[in-house]
Amino acid sequence: MDHKKEYLLNFKGYNFERSLVKMNIVENMDNQEIRDDDVFLVTFPKSGTIWTQQILSSIFFEGHRNSTENVQTMDRIPFFEYNIHNFDFTKMPSPRIFASHLPYYLVPKALKNKKTKILYVYRNPKDILTSYFHFTNLMANFEAANSMESFIQKFLEGRVVGSCWFDHIRGWYEHRHDFNIMFQSYEDMKKDLRSSVIKICSFLEKKLSDEDVDAVVRQSMFQNMKSDPRANYEDIIRNEIGTRNDEGKFLRKGTIGDWKHHLTVDQNERFDKIFYKNMKNIPLKFIWDINEE
Ligand code: PPS
Repeated sequence: MDHKKEYLLNFKGYNFERSLVKMNIVENMDNQEIRDDDVFLVTFPKSGTIWTQQILSSIFFEGHRNSTENVQTMDRIPFFEYNIHNFDFTKMPSPRIFASHLPYYLVPKALKNKKTKILYVYRNPKDILTSYFHFTNLMANFEAANSMESFIQKFLEGRVVGSCWFDHIRGWYEHRHDFNIMFQSYEDMKKDLRSSVIKICSFLEKKLSDEDVDAVVRQSMFQNMKSDPRANYEDIIRNEIGTRNDEGKFLRKGTIGDWKHHLTVDQNERFDKIFYKNMKNIPLKFIWDINEE
């Protein structure tokens, strides 16, 4: 059976998750309303999307930051192309914040207005691969991976939702001058969340008091998110999308360097060769180990 046909939907060379993507949006990108004060959080899957959704929800919404409102991050910051709850985006009050896995060439052209802000969160791809391997085996709407070896092949060939990681990050980086974009690494958030929150606030021109920044950081810590039903996606993955088992979690380890427990020496060396070949002209900093400076 051709699983690619079953689980993925390829549009203009990019793989979407077939059961969730809203083709009425994807096929009409340039007709989507874009406002100057919209914010787009763009990521390759498994790079820290829901983490940053929680950070942005806490930055922008006081009721989220101080937990007086019980609104899921997914509803505060809906996915643009996976508009799961079918929001009428035109009715959302400004500033609207969207999450997206889109590659640079499929986003609405109006994002090139250089006013709409784009926050691109990236993560070292060995941890993405590891996170994705577990996720793909947890979610009923993803093709289960028989082994890490076969999943590495699929990941490198871009036969996954999001297509090829190298194309995604290179595309956004090489076209960064067309957009108002900031690159933020998962690992920097992990190593110093407070400084990262301040940097993100500065890019988004949001002035928060020290106490408010502390509250954003508190809300966005891994352990807090894990037990926060607004942020942990448990309800969505269990009751709306569907999982293969009850054990796996969306918030799995939330760390840097878990790949070391999953890749063999040989797999790691092969991955390194491909990484350096593809990324040699991209000066973004990657952190592979929690103890790395
Ligand atoms: S998705 O499916 O694309 O939306 O997944 P995404 O949210 O991008 O990535 C999921 C991984 O992010 C980790 N995560 C966190 N890490 C650290 N701190 C916090 N607060 C946090 N929240 C989510 C999550 O655990 C997934 O990584 P792994 O390595 O699987 O744990």
